[in-house]
Amino acid sequence: SKNTLIDPFGRTVDYIRLSVTDRCDFRCVYCMAEEMTFLPKADLLTLEELEIVCRRFMAMGTRKIRLTGGEPLVRRNIMHLIRNLGASVKDGTLDELTITTNGSQLVKMADDLAAAGVRRLNISLDTLNPDLFTTITRWGKLATVLDGLAAARAAGLDIKINAVALKGVNEDELGDMVAWCGDQGFDMTIIEVMPMGDIGNENRIDQYLPLSLVRTTLAKRFTLTDSDFQTPGPARYVTVAETGRKLGFITPLTHNFCESCNRVRVTCTGQLYMCLGQDDNADLATALRQHGEAGLDAAIIEAIGRKPKGHDFIISRRETATVGRHMNVTGG
Ligand code: GTP
Ligand code: 5AD
Ligand code: SF4
Repeated sequence: SKNTLIDPFGRTVDYIRLSVTDRCDFRCVYCMAEEMTFLPKADLLTLEELEIVCRRFMAMGTRKIRLTGGEPLVRRNIMHLIRNLGASVKDGTLDELTITTNGSQLVKMADDLAAAGVRRLNISLDTLNPDLFTTITRWGKLATVLDGLAAARAAGLDIKINAVALKGVNEDELGDMVAWCGDQGFDMTIIEVMPMGDIGNENRIDQYLPLSLVRTTLAKRFTLTDSDFQTPGPARYVTVAETGRKLGFITPLTHNFCESCNRVRVTCTGQLYMCLGQDDNADLATALRQHGEAGLDAAIIEAIGRKPKGHDFIISRRETATVGRHMNVTGG
């Protein structure tokens, strides 16, 4: 259908990032506090409501849906939503239904995902060192995720590894991860850590590593050439000549990619955030529950009409995060 969601800066919104749960079975240090209070389950949109929100966006031109979390695959009965949305990939209404996941559930779910119409996964993995993996995720087991990756590959899913670059933590390992991704047949994206959530006592700023430095280091070991493959999204891609795989750099702090932004995000409680790095949001849950699908449509259109020009993440404020909410609420 024709796209009707065009923001005040002329950008077409055709990509929804839907956080289906704020819960996660890991607790990555840059994403969540160790002690997190999760939302009461009663506050969540039901699976049926999540699907209605997706369908109304699709009616207004959405072509791509990414499920995020928290960890999307720990939401109870999530395969039901994935199968229903996957049917829209199969009939051509959606170009892509994809998932950002920590990989912990893939041993049991990869085949079902592939059968449902998912073709590609972004899997968060910051290290191949088992002890460091457990430190970063606070209790995750690397072997579980590696088994999940193997299952996803065996199921025929395309895989991209997301690694957040952390100074003095995984910094020295990123080159080995690039090589490993090449061996495995995975693309990779390296991400600058973003100042979200309560960073008062944490070291997200101390751990901030500008990717210009990472790229310079990697360029000593690999031949990186600018890739023809580019998307409106935040990553800028190069090709690694030695492996033939794509390598993306997501640099919210050093390069602002907002001018081509094509996405908005919906939280598991039905709040629409027009930008990851801004607090402004619209309450789609209330609109839907009080005024039905027409009310939902009106709320979406009104909100897109005030999508901001861009985020204003900065990495110098020590005392407060740019955005107070934790990453797991909006799913990145
Ligand atoms: P594809 O391009 O579809 O592969 O995915 P993606 O890179 O857009 O999504 P993914 O969920 O893998 O996110 C990778 C990183 O990009 C995460 O750290 C996200 O928080 C970040 N990210 C995604 N979209 C935006 C955005 O609009 N703004 C900012 N600042 N970061 C984003
Ligand atoms: N900065 C950058 N990336 C983050 N992610 C989670 N928290 C942060 C942060 N503070 C990443 C995860 C996952 C993706 C959805 O977002 O590693 O790959
Ligand atoms: Fe969970 Fe992903 Fe956040 Fe880690 S980054 S705590 S795996 S949602």
